[in-house]
Amino acid sequence: MSIRLTLDRLLQSQGFGSRKYCRELIADGEVAIDGAVITDYRAAFATAGLTFTIFEEKWTYREHVYIALNKPANFECSRKPSHHPGVLSLLPEQFSWRDVQPVGRLDHDTTGLLLMSDDGPFIHAQSSPKRHVPKLYRATTQEPITQQLLTQLLVGVQLHDEPAPLAALSCVAVGEHQLDIVLEQGKYHQVKRMLAAAGNHCSALRRIAIGGLTLEALGLGEGEWCYLDAEHLSLLNAKREE
Ligand code: URA
Repeated sequence: MSIRLTLDRLLQSQGFGSRKYCRELIADGEVAIDGAVITDYRAAFATAGLTFTIFEEKWTYREHVYIALNKPANFECSRKPSHHPGVLSLLPEQFSWRDVQPVGRLDHDTTGLLLMSDDGPFIHAQSSPKRHVPKLYRATTQEPITQQLLTQLLVGVQLHDEPAPLAALSCVAVGEHQLDIVLEQGKYHQVKRMLAAAGNHCSALRRIAIGGLTLEALGLGEGEWCYLDAEHLSLLNAKREE
């Protein structure tokens, strides 16, 4: 949706700080559009496709941001992290001002694909238990993987606080101590608890795909992030090809 915004509101909407602070940045000559420094905060611009330069860095106006992060271990998804730094510390500080949040949670020691956004309805829809978006995890196990373990995970294992057994959509061994497991639900510590209930122990966990969106296709190194475009977002609803 294209709207016209005065430059102070525009910068504020993009996470550059309070309106007062954005006015100061503008008055200080820190903001340019189409190569021209704008010092009047009342100047108004259509937002669609707008790019601007601030602190000599180029930015594109985005009504909302949709981000994929390759989460490293020892970062918390919580907004108020307690034992480790939060994942937001891996992103430009503008995203915190914009109230970007993780879409769902990965444990602090889980690595891999984490979506983040400041679009409330998007976050809500993606996190809804009704959505059934398959999520692919690569789990490293303490004990060797047996056919019995794979069968148990596929048939379903009973977790303490769940009314019914939870089953993997698919589950294949990719090494003596590694398996790929696809889950539709996103219960607390689900992979680790399912493996424990099946008599093994998860010693490392990495999410490698959500729907048809894979970390490999995004080409993100550990700790790197990228914006997701409409094509990426449409993959989130796609069933993963086996
Ligand atoms: N399952 C887990 O056990 N932990 C995660 O972080 C994600 C899924």
